[in-house]
Amino acid sequence: MRIIHISAEGYPMAKVGGLADVAGALPKYQQSLGEQASLVMPMHRTPFLHRQSWEVVHKASLMLGDNVHEYTIIKTASNELGFDLYCVDIHGLLDRERVYGYEDDGYRFLAFQLAVVDWVKTMDVLPNLLHVHDHQTAFIPFLLKHVYGNEKLRPISTVLTIHNAQYQGWMDPALLKFFPRWDDWKTGLLFWDGQINALACGIKCVDRITTVSSGYMRELHDQAHGLSALIRQEFSKCSGIINGIDHAIWNPETDPMISTHYSAVSVKEGKYANKLSICQEWGLNPDLPLVVFIGRLVDDKGADLLPAAISRFLEIHPEAASFFVLGNGQYNIEKALEQLNGQFVGFYNSQIQYNETLGHQLYAAADFLLMPSRVEPCGLNQLYALRYGTIPMVRRTGGLADTVIDCGDAGGFGLCFDKPSVSDILHTLHRAIHLFQDKPAMLKIRKQMMSINHSWESSAQEYIDLYLKIISKSHQHS
Ligand code: GLC
Repeated sequence: MRIIHISAEGYPMAKVGGLADVAGALPKYQQSLGEQASLVMPMHRTPFLHRQSWEVVHKASLMLGDNVHEYTIIKTASNELGFDLYCVDIHGLLDRERVYGYEDDGYRFLAFQLAVVDWVKTMDVLPNLLHVHDHQTAFIPFLLKHVYGNEKLRPISTVLTIHNAQYQGWMDPALLKFFPRWDDWKTGLLFWDGQINALACGIKCVDRITTVSSGYMRELHDQAHGLSALIRQEFSKCSGIINGIDHAIWNPETDPMISTHYSAVSVKEGKYANKLSICQEWGLNPDLPLVVFIGRLVDDKGADLLPAAISRFLEIHPEAASFFVLGNGQYNIEKALEQLNGQFVGFYNSQIQYNETLGHQLYAAADFLLMPSRVEPCGLNQLYALRYGTIPMVRRTGGLADTVIDCGDAGGFGLCFDKPSVSDILHTLHRAIHLFQDKPAMLKIRKQMMSINHSWESSAQEYIDLYLKIISKSHQHS
């Protein structure tokens, strides 16, 4: 089968969040399962993308209303990633340092999607399936099916994976003038609640919708940031497939970013050595339980609860645990977390930045990973934590509820709580400190977690099974 994934980000090319990890791993694992899977993304101005050597695959120009944009499709010359990576290069529009966050994002990603579709049209052998990810690529099923001139592309099947339904790509209807001519009868497909809504359009037009856990799909039926009625309407197209993690990258036995390698057998000494090096570097006491938060500092992740939860805990139990927060995001949360640095010297540290290397080091060093998410479509960090023998403390929601069993339950290993609230976090921190004192129990849980397999193989295969169900007969045999 020929599958093309289309995504705004992909690791290690350009990463903002978990979407990048998925887009960078799924094609690789599908390749290894014998499929022809590739990834197309914008040519952002990131060091990784600029270091590559490229082959030019296609060059043409694109009309967005009266604007003409030259675009080039380039492909990595080496096979280092384990799949073919194609980038759409549009000068002045896509070649920017950040992936998102520009005023003209709506226009930029429309141009990206139009370029992808325009290029696919020129292929001698069409792909069987386009797998689009999140709202930045969600117009593609509409473009394939309802835009004049794209008739040739109609047989291509489409899958949309929703990594986070909070971000929907709302757009001013004024942007419609930049769309190529479409079948007027279908205009309603572009709209939701009086605005253009890219994600809603994708949900309506695509053949199959997946979310990155079954739990999150169930939640979207009731709460989907305004889209739940639509999700319920389209439920026959919907299913959940849990994300995997890239075991080649997330492996404490070989991870080049951590100071001491370890396996389940050497986890006790291995983790302590990593903890020692982090604690020495950041002035923390290695004999206390180390609780970390790694991720985007946004309300969805419950990061706004951290300043109050950490300071209250350390006020009640000075010297009972150390904390480390790594991430960036909302300004108010960043500031509140930074302020704690001076208040709890020796027991708290934060680095307000995105830092992949420090992230790996913290998974290796920490005893507990805190994820008080309000919403968590899958969550990858708890899966990384398991792999590194770090106990996840998670709020029961979405993918967190699907992947973490409380250590009070049969077969359990994590610490779970119900509400994204300071009091639930405090209660769970108390449980963590008790557990930490029971060294044999800690060790047993660490070993158990490290033996759980969340590698991509089985989820990559689940996607392939889904593709096979929807690909039309003519394509299956082409
Ligand atoms: C988004 C979600 C996260 C998920 C990731 C990859 O970042 O918020 O829960 O793991 O996408 O699918």
